[in-house]
Amino acid sequence: MITTDYLVIGSGVAGLTFAIKIAERFSDRTVVIVTKGDESESNTKYAQGGVAVVLDTEEDSFQKHIQDTLVAGDGLCDELVVQMVIKEGPKRFSELIHWGANFDIDSEGNFSLGKEGGHSEYRVVHHKDITGYEVERALLKRVHQLKNIQLLSYHFAIDLITEHHLEEQHSEKLACYGAYVLNEKTGEILALKAKHTLLASGGIGRVYGHTTNPDIATGDGIAMAYRAKAQIQDVEFVQFHPTALYDSEKGSSFLISEAVRGFGAYLRNRKGRRFMPGYDERAELASRDVVSQCIDKELKRTGDTHVYLDCTHLDIEAFKGHFPNIHEKCKSLHIDLAKDWIPVVPASHYLCGGIVVDKNGETTINNLFACGECSRTGLHGANRLASNSLLEALVYAHNVFEHLSTENREHTNLDIPEWNDEGTSIPKEHIIIQHNLKELQALMRDYVGIVRSNDRLKKAITRLDVIYKEVEVLYKTSKVNTSLCELRNMINVAHLIIGQSLLRKENKGGYYNIDNL
Ligand code: FAD
Ligand code: SIN
Repeated sequence: MITTDYLVIGSGVAGLTFAIKIAERFSDRTVVIVTKGDESESNTKYAQGGVAVVLDTEEDSFQKHIQDTLVAGDGLCDELVVQMVIKEGPKRFSELIHWGANFDIDSEGNFSLGKEGGHSEYRVVHHKDITGYEVERALLKRVHQLKNIQLLSYHFAIDLITEHHLEEQHSEKLACYGAYVLNEKTGEILALKAKHTLLASGGIGRVYGHTTNPDIATGDGIAMAYRAKAQIQDVEFVQFHPTALYDSEKGSSFLISEAVRGFGAYLRNRKGRRFMPGYDERAELASRDVVSQCIDKELKRTGDTHVYLDCTHLDIEAFKGHFPNIHEKCKSLHIDLAKDWIPVVPASHYLCGGIVVDKNGETTINNLFACGECSRTGLHGANRLASNSLLEALVYAHNVFEHLSTENREHTNLDIPEWNDEGTSIPKEHIIIQHNLKELQALMRDYVGIVRSNDRLKKAITRLDVIYKEVEVLYKTSKVNTSLCELRNMINVAHLIIGQSLLRKENKGGYYNIDNL
């Protein structure tokens, strides 16, 4: 058993920011960060466009950013949350700079500002097209300087420790006492006891086969919180990014940033027709739910597998300066941006809902907090505005920190039981996990994608149930490993997405069901 003041699950922007703040303020308090795989692997690391923040108050204003966020969220944002997050943005951004993150500067010495879909102004601060990589680098560097933070990489959180694991109920409201964590290298399972636990475990992209997200995005935190009976909301709002690079074998994964459309690129179909102006007056810069749905319609209409992003009319040298990573990726695939169009297709990208939290990041379970992509704050409503995610993670990591700064409780003296794996054995075959994963991803892509129907959703539930039962048997009889737990978590998340989709009777933002028309 390890005991700590604060247990942080996840080492993306949300978890690292909270850990740094609390460790800097209280040198006598301990923080343990557990993270599966390598310490830097996260959605954060792949963020391209940047952080939406109002800095240029001559052209821009908080009010404009608030309005853009509310419009993108299609009436389902919590307006007070939107105001709070956007007004806090500049302070939180300046902390990132203080910790050493570098952002591009223009010829006049001001922060270079990009524009993305749904934004009425240029307000996205960025580090070339690898903003997330730079943010992750700077935060990890600071974490390693702080002696009261212990970062355990290759440590996978399996389940939260709550009243369910104790023999008696000890508080009126359910409470969290830490987590069971698998050391991915030794197979040992530790009980990690904490006064406060923060879920900062990121998104769910991998539940769909086609995604811009890295392999870690398997919705573990949401599934753990759900099993612990925390409230989960708005997960029917899966955001599909309009322009993932099309790859005929893999489906898609590499992102072509929305900032490329902000830079002036056009979307064209195979025949070369620029189709977005026919669908929306904002054309390529409509919010991403609109652009993804239009591409989906265009693909269904033409029977094609992908559309194209045309940059040939742009200043390619300037493009290279702004988007060196994207330029390099295209070059490696023999796509010459001066002559060729980039094949693109929508892919699952971001979850707008998640674990319900209040303005302090507190969940419906005592001592359990959540921030970043796994949480549902009310900022995004039915569709997140581009580059509002890093912003939200920074602001809420701060809010959790402020809230917990005022508390210094004693450790519970409850006996936390060790992990019990009596009667389990090492699974002899991996094929059941691989097969069910592929089936789950195909099911979600084909039946629970951009355009849904009640019939497809009901069929999805029936099939998911078969996968669920098979995997539960395996889980109960096996010594657990990461891929088995991830699959179990993705099944839980899929169940939530389908269930909440069936309950939504009105199309809003990223949710589109033909039976609601
Ligand atoms: P993450 O950064 O995903 O970190 C989650 C962490 O939790 C990881 O370290 C992971 O390993 C760990 N973890 C998960 N499960 C477990 C477990 N069971 N046990 C232990 N550890 C676990 N947003 C913007 O605002 N601007 C952008 O430009 C932008 N571009 C993007 C581009 C791409 C390609 C992608 C995929 C996303 C982009 N986003 C962008 C979204 C944004 O990057 C994410 O929403 C944000 O980084 C999430 O941060 P996080 O800290 O909540 O989660
Ligand atoms: C992008 O660069 O297009 C991604 C931005 C985001 O997801 O906010």
